[in-house]
Amino acid sequence: MLELETARLKLRLFRLSDFDDLYRLYSEPEVMRYVGRGARTQQETETGLLLMIEHWQRHGFGMWALIDKNNDKLIGRCGLCFLDHTLEVELGYLLDQYYWGQGLATEASQAALKYGFEMVNLKKIVAVAKPENLASRRVMEKVGLKYEKDAYYYNCDVVYYSISQKDYRLSELKNSLQRLQ
Ligand SMILES: CC(C)(COP(=O)(O)OP(=O)(O)OC[C@H]1O[C@@H](n2cnc3c(N)ncnc32)[C@H](O)[C@@H]1OP(=O)(O)O)[C@@H](O)C(=O)NCCC(=O)NCCS
Repeated sequence: MLELETARLKLRLFRLSDFDDLYRLYSEPEVMRYVGRGARTQQETETGLLLMIEHWQRHGFGMWALIDKNNDKLIGRCGLCFLDHTLEVELGYLLDQYYWGQGLATEASQAALKYGFEMVNLKKIVAVAKPENLASRRVMEKVGLKYEKDAYYYNCDVVYYSISQKDYRLSELKNSLQRLQ
């Protein structure tokens, strides 16, 4: 079960035919403001797309394309990948600016964490962001990650958040109990 569904989104694997949609996102300076070195070229987008497809084939987890269930449009990406030259697994997300502020990154991230902990049996999932990327930090907090340290990855200063499988399972249990009350 590599494809997931949430209330408003389909999370499906990337295909080569997603290039145009991905480039629309990756070439947008505002979307890419805190991501890597900023807006990407066609060549960089193509490399990124191939890497995302290959990551799934090699590791059994990766980034999903986020599809708006209302209109079947590709509106972003979210998922799990290796943190910059480490064996740690990182949660990442990026959305078309038109869709910001509706809780969609949180919704997709919850599905990605569930997959990572319950299907892949990861012991820990981390996330990093440039310190000034407050929206991203807020998403991390809303899905249960905790600030751990300042760090340096991808050639820049970042804040590093994490959640263990144990804490994830505990919070899931608490949520289930609350729903029963
Ligand atoms: C980060 C990103 C994915 C968030 O997507 P989103 O769907 O808008 O996120 P959500 O709606 O689930 O949650 C965003 C939260 O951040 C808050 N937020 C947004 N902008 C903020 C700001 N400038 N300062 C403080 N909080 C902010 C929102 O209020 C919301 O929190 P709340 O629910 O408590 O009100 C989106 O902004 C994006 O694609 N950014 C560009 C790519 C990027 O930076 N990716 C992360 C790289 S580390």
